[in-house]
Amino acid sequence: MAAETDVVALVLRRRADPTQLLQILREAQEELGWISPETARALASTLGVPATHVESVVQFYSFLYDKPRGRYRILFSDNITDRMLGSLTLFEHMLKRLKLRQGEVSPDGAVSIDLTSCTGMCDQGPAALVNNRAVTRLTARRVDEMCDLVRAGVSISDWPSNYFRVEDNIRRADAILGSRYAPGSALRAAIALGRQGMLDEMKRSNLRGRGGAGFTTSVKWESCRNAPGAERYIVCNADEGEPGTFKDRVLLTSYADRVFEGMAIAGFVAGAARGLVYLRGEYRHLLEPLEAKLDAMRRDRLMGAGICGAQGFDFDVDIHLGAGAYICGEESALIESLEGKPGKPRIRPPFPVTVGYLGKPTVVDNVETLAQATEVALHGGRMFAGRGTKHSAGTKILSVSGDCSRPGLYEYPFGVRVEQVLKDCGASDVAAVQVSGPSGVCLTPDEFRRHIAFEDVPTAGAFMVFGMERDLFEVARNFAHFFAHESCGFCTPCRVGTALLRDALDKIAEGRGSRYEINELMRLAELLRRTSHCGLGQTAGNPVRDAWAKFRPAFERRLIRGEFDPAVDLDAALTRAREIAGRDDAAAHIGAEA
Ligand SMILES: Cc1cc2nc3c(=O)[nH]c(=O)nc-3n(C[C@H](O)[C@H](O)[C@H](O)COP(=O)(O)O)c2cc1C
Ligand code: SF4
Repeated sequence: MAAETDVVALVLRRRADPTQLLQILREAQEELGWISPETARALASTLGVPATHVESVVQFYSFLYDKPRGRYRILFSDNITDRMLGSLTLFEHMLKRLKLRQGEVSPDGAVSIDLTSCTGMCDQGPAALVNNRAVTRLTARRVDEMCDLVRAGVSISDWPSNYFRVEDNIRRADAILGSRYAPGSALRAAIALGRQGMLDEMKRSNLRGRGGAGFTTSVKWESCRNAPGAERYIVCNADEGEPGTFKDRVLLTSYADRVFEGMAIAGFVAGAARGLVYLRGEYRHLLEPLEAKLDAMRRDRLMGAGICGAQGFDFDVDIHLGAGAYICGEESALIESLEGKPGKPRIRPPFPVTVGYLGKPTVVDNVETLAQATEVALHGGRMFAGRGTKHSAGTKILSVSGDCSRPGLYEYPFGVRVEQVLKDCGASDVAAVQVSGPSGVCLTPDEFRRHIAFEDVPTAGAFMVFGMERDLFEVARNFAHFFAHESCGFCTPCRVGTALLRDALDKIAEGRGSRYEINELMRLAELLRRTSHCGLGQTAGNPVRDAWAKFRPAFERRLIRGEFDPAVDLDAALTRAREIAGRDDAAAHIGAEA
């Protein structure tokens, strides 16, 4: 292992820029295993930033460590779909075999094992990350083999390659996933249309963002173009942190041409020469292939100066890797993270289209939105708008997982009914479908005739299926843990409220909950919705509200009959005080008759 000073020198030679701090820390950690106080101080002084700033960044991101972790860092994906496939049993099995507790480092420093939020492999779970590399389709046998490899000290690069196989699992293809794509064709079509002509086609297409909010893409591009200033940026949001979503993973694996060309077309229209991809840390395995794809595009003059020979059409892309923070999918938090800071959402307005990355006008678009823009360039806006529904043009890619026989990607024209998707993916006896992840909506069978579309059931892509035997209380509890873990802590309602939601559900799970907790849950969910600063807090109460409204018996059978049961056993908490005071008479006990 290189000396820390060497690592700092190495990293800074590449990027001596404070806005690159997250990337520098990530690379330093890849060398050193963790960020020691000495490394943090050395980085701070070389970059000319306060040491506290470096520390705050390290502490913010789950994949940066300010304490040593094992040489093998194993993180089990803790999404509900992984749990449904038995991930917790496998997690406990591995802890037992390696004689470890959760989060603990083995005495020889070899291994640490913990849980992490959804790793985006729900179609091939249970999944885990081993030193940031995704391992899929875990079984008890595979876990045993992994334990043997860890004990024998075998380098990860020598582990069987099939452990790391990540499949696309495309089950239904349409415009994007199905068509044969000639690299460069969308770029050439956009150049032929000209900047204004391409913008006009975008307007005609009615393309709306696929990242969740459904904002009209042409409005964003035009606003950025019209914002004052000479420098502009196009950001591709590849954070894909919403549990149950994995479509962007596949687009970046097998359709990266389209995504990068979509970015360049956005740059062409908005007048931006630089693009940034924010790739979630869980997709670390995609970094080198994407870099290689960009190199190939540069060689083919599909990236760089004078794209396709068009004078003045200059555009190039950098890839930034995230480090395990769901909130960095929120566009302003993402920009903070790109600037090397903790990913906390900004106060808006101003919106990124006027004040974005480095204070410059910036378009932030989802991976799928950018891929869809190539369809508009190729076939024109009218053709694009001719598919889907009135308010939801084109196709939508769904990430289907859970209780179905064919999990994977399904691309449909917008407007498809939920029941059609269920039929196609081989789901029967379905109790509920969670559409758009924990922040989305839980649908029950009486709603399965509804349509996937912005005007009916909007979605960023997740489609998690729960069979009749599933306990929807436990699903809501898993989601509450997710939000409490991922709250960035910037605003009090969300920081405190998500923790209270989690604790109240845990209390009910332990059989100590009463009507009091239910009332508290509903009150908190409403408070979160009304007073949180960003979408994470605003939607964090949705799952518990939905589950209580639609699966009440799952709660009621856990409730004690009384009106209230305290969360803390005060009498037990005073045991030590009684020992010190040397008294144990009735009056020294809370609740005892005097
Ligand atoms: C908590 C939170 C997480 C988000 N995560 C993502 C994400 O992972 N990917 C994404 O594209 N948009 C995400 N968004 C939405 C973005 O803020 C933004 O609306 C989107 O990137 C815009 O792109 P689009 O117009 O192409 O949809 C998230 C929003 C919130 C509030
Ligand atoms: S709502 Fe939650 S995630 Fe959003 S800014 Fe507030 S604390 Fe952070």
